[in-house]
Amino acid sequence: MTVVLITGANRGIGLEMTKQLVATGTKVFATCRLPENADALNQLASENSDLVTIVQLDVINDMSVHAAAQTVAAQTDHIDVLINNAGVNFRDNFEDFNADEFLLSLNANGVGAMRVVRQFVDLLRKAENPKIVNISSQLGSITAQRPNFGSYAYNSSKAVMNMITRHLSFDLESDGIITISMHPGWVQTDMGGANAAVTPPDSAAGILNVTAGLTAEDNGKFYIYNGEIHPW
Ligand SMILES: NC(=O)c1ccc[n+]([C@@H]2O[C@H](COP(=O)([O-])OP(=O)(O)OC[C@H]3O[C@@H](n4cnc5c(N)ncnc54)[C@H](OP(=O)(O)O)[C@@H]3O)[C@@H](O)[C@H]2O)c1
Repeated sequence: MTVVLITGANRGIGLEMTKQLVATGTKVFATCRLPENADALNQLASENSDLVTIVQLDVINDMSVHAAAQTVAAQTDHIDVLINNAGVNFRDNFEDFNADEFLLSLNANGVGAMRVVRQFVDLLRKAENPKIVNISSQLGSITAQRPNFGSYAYNSSKAVMNMITRHLSFDLESDGIITISMHPGWVQTDMGGANAAVTPPDSAAGILNVTAGLTAEDNGKFYIYNGEIHPW
């Protein structure tokens, strides 16, 4: 059975990916930082108790990530796909730059993915065709950057995530692990807002479709949810 682990699975794109995976009979470790508040995810899990396991995981907390890895390892012998989806978006600009929010963004959106990979890599190594999908953003692209396009904190944190993707693509290649960055589109979630261009179902379906088709040749690439390549 295919096993997927998703961070930030309680709402937005993470919740939608969880729903779509469950609909295909995929086992999902749906992680979130506050399971007791994750009403929609708890509902999904209660209706699909054989497929959805909710695990507490806060990507900025080493102990939480370690404990989550132990919990998951007790319930599966492998993970096929790890989706680093959790993210925060503090909006700033040159005038109201906030160092604390900048550092928190780097921690959650960059270091967080690294924490999760390091704790779950042994389960990935036991899969036949393991993949790591880092949900990044077009705003983390250095070459695509333009005036008034996102914030210092968010854009920089996603650029960090993109560099982590490239590092992992080299370091884990010999384990057969494919690592990519993924721009999910501008999506109608709490983060993207109601005016965004893409619905969560379309974004999630695209991400999962691209993920399913990944081969070794894709290792280290930056994809868009529609299957196109994004410039770094
Ligand atoms: N929406 C867009 O237009 C868009 C565009 C480009 C990229 N993205 C990226 O896509 C991913 C999903 O975004 P979304 O639109 O679904 O946003 P969202 O609706 O705001 O959801 C963000 C998710 O991240 C979780 N999260 C935040 N900090 C966390 C932490 N420390 N530990 C664990 N989970 C944490 C949130 O959990 P809580 O409920 O506990 O806060 C929530 O589940 C993010 O990485 C985002 O940067 C989104």
